[in-house]
Amino acid sequence: MKMNSQAEMLLKDEDKNIEFYDSILVLDFGSQYSELIARRVRELNVYSEVVSYRTTASQIKKISPKGIILSGGPSSVYDEGAPSCDQEIFNLGIPVLGVCYGMQLMTKLLGGKVVRADKHEYGKSILEINPKDKLFLDLESKFVSWMSHGDSVTDLPSDFTISAKTSNTSCAAISNHNKKLYGVQFHPEVIHTMNGIEILRNFVINICDSNPNWTMKTFIEESINQVRAKVGDKKILLALSGGVDSSTLAFLLHDAIGERLTCMFIDQGFMRKGEPERLLTTFQNEFHIKVHYVNAKERFVSALKGIIDPEEKRKIIGREFIRTFEDESKKIGPFDYLAQGTLYPDVIESADTNIDPKTGERVAVKIKSHHNVGGLPKDLQFKLVEPFRKLFKDEVRKVARELAVPKRIIERHPFPGPGLAIRIIGEVTQERLDVLREADSIIRDEINKAGLYNAVWQVFGVLLPIHSVGVMGDKRTYSNPIVLRAVTSEDGMTADWAKLPYEVLEKISTRLVNEVKNINRVVYDITSKPPGTIEWE
Ligand code: XMP
Repeated sequence: MKMNSQAEMLLKDEDKNIEFYDSILVLDFGSQYSELIARRVRELNVYSEVVSYRTTASQIKKISPKGIILSGGPSSVYDEGAPSCDQEIFNLGIPVLGVCYGMQLMTKLLGGKVVRADKHEYGKSILEINPKDKLFLDLESKFVSWMSHGDSVTDLPSDFTISAKTSNTSCAAISNHNKKLYGVQFHPEVIHTMNGIEILRNFVINICDSNPNWTMKTFIEESINQVRAKVGDKKILLALSGGVDSSTLAFLLHDAIGERLTCMFIDQGFMRKGEPERLLTTFQNEFHIKVHYVNAKERFVSALKGIIDPEEKRKIIGREFIRTFEDESKKIGPFDYLAQGTLYPDVIESADTNIDPKTGERVAVKIKSHHNVGGLPKDLQFKLVEPFRKLFKDEVRKVARELAVPKRIIERHPFPGPGLAIRIIGEVTQERLDVLREADSIIRDEINKAGLYNAVWQVFGVLLPIHSVGVMGDKRTYSNPIVLRAVTSEDGMTADWAKLPYEVLEKISTRLVNEVKNINRVVYDITSKPPGTIEWE
């Protein structure tokens, strides 16, 4: 039987008008990689989504996924209150793959034994597999895998066999072919595990027998149906920023509800040079999508007067943003729904990302309040429409290609909602905004000229509120530095500093100091993420 692709909706019994596709359910035990597992499965063209570890066997039966993946997690299976799952899921006849904590939990629940290992294994380990095992079919017998565990399986549950080992772990993978239960101690979802996607393919396609017919086209059709079902004949207001997320959303919503979509662009005064003008002409003249322009520059700069704390800045910007929306929408509305191009990394980094091993509850490990998530006021007047909440940036780019969004928008670097304001350390003033905007434009210009725009994930300047001494034309200067930040990344969750050629760095540095008033020094940020974040605030 075909399965519902929107497990959570189905759990809430709101599954009207939804298409049916094969799906894989990921039970989340608190790993930072849970959503990455789902995304890798979607890369195999099978729908996947993450649900709570508390989802019961009968709920899962109702959803009837083709397979279940138990995620990793930070707990030890023997911790008091460690998250567990309904044991009945192993009797549903649905194949299960346990990953790391998921494998240990499966072992414990089915009568095997897990102990704290003498040697912890973190990072790369050489895996020796049995290439005849269905999970590893036709793979080479040794390859690198990514491990991150303190506990190890020592005794197998009955009817299981070992299918892989490393020098530290005799049970690096286990299988029970009759019951289609599998476990891996390593993380096949991370790119550092060679053949990771092949292992997931063996599970999802061969073992679970899923039909790989879920595509971005399917996602679009499904999202359009859901939006239509959710908003009925009501109107949606979209917060358009000109970036790939909100632009793609504008295209999708325009297809879904046509003229009942109103795009509003609030100019906070934090955009890059020339962008507000470009956005308006592109959308109105080229795409024939109407945009309501709001000049709120003064409102935002005065709201940030004297504010230094980054979180406070983000909260104020988020609050002013929504308030401006509310004020403006009253003038041109009414609207019931507010659409935002929120992505999964925005959600995970703004909110709860871990499970407390003691209570089994999610605990808040907030890194930053992302503009479109964390800053929302509690008394929000709109209901939210966020179709991209579960997608990663490159998945949105695929959606964009499918919707024929122009290439120059699709390939645009991510730009944070709070814009230049979070790239000015300390108080945001009009003068500082003008300095940074000019610097940013030079940086982009040189990166474009060097043909490096698509080689990096993001490149930008950060203005520091400190002064240092320099010398220009025999005169002493005492001005601000610009930090040049350039990173490579797959999805913004982790990043590496970009090894830009010295000549390009030199050109940028010379131009910034010569052409931008109040800049007398340029430094290059060589921090990766983690431990740094991409933006400075
Ligand atoms: P960090 O600084 O957290 O950034 O490593 C990760 C990615 O997210 C972008 N970013 C934001 N995007 N609203 C957004 O839409 C925000 O408030 C926000 N803050 C950071 C950042 O540019 C990077 O691509």
